[in-house]
Amino acid sequence: MGGRPGRAGRGARALAPGGELPRRAEGRADERELAPDAWGEDALRHGPAAAHLAARHGETDRGVLDAVRYHSVGYVGWDRAGRMLYVGDYLEPDRAFHGEWHRELIARVPEEPDAVFREVVRDRIRRLVTGGRPLLPETVDLWNVLARAD
Ligand SMILES: [Fe+2]
Repeated sequence: MGGRPGRAGRGARALAPGGELPRRAEGRADERELAPDAWGEDALRHGPAAAHLAARHGETDRGVLDAVRYHSVGYVGWDRAGRMLYVGDYLEPDRAFHGEWHRELIARVPEEPDAVFREVVRDRIRRLVTGGRPLLPETVDLWNVLARAD
């Protein structure tokens, strides 16, 4: 027990408060410097910034770095680590929008990780559209691949 974290765990560690990225208010200037593009949205900057710092601190696994970089957006090139970090991020128990359905998704992750991943992508997109937010190309590409796989 207590050995090296798995690949998704390394991604989560890179994103964790107190991890490699100085958080929020004090970290905004750093985030802008580390991730000047970040889809033009401050709220999305922490993923690319944390990936940049993780690489600087020795993370060389492309899948882990892509997991961190795109965890708020989605990415069609993800491997298992990217998918699980995305699911874990969205299903964090303290999310304000969580209801019973989200708790059921959490319970299904061990047996049905791919089905839960698809539901999380769908729910995230539903929330964006309902809120009148734009969809980024990476998000649309991911959904289209999942939808065509059915
Ligand atoms: Fe995040």
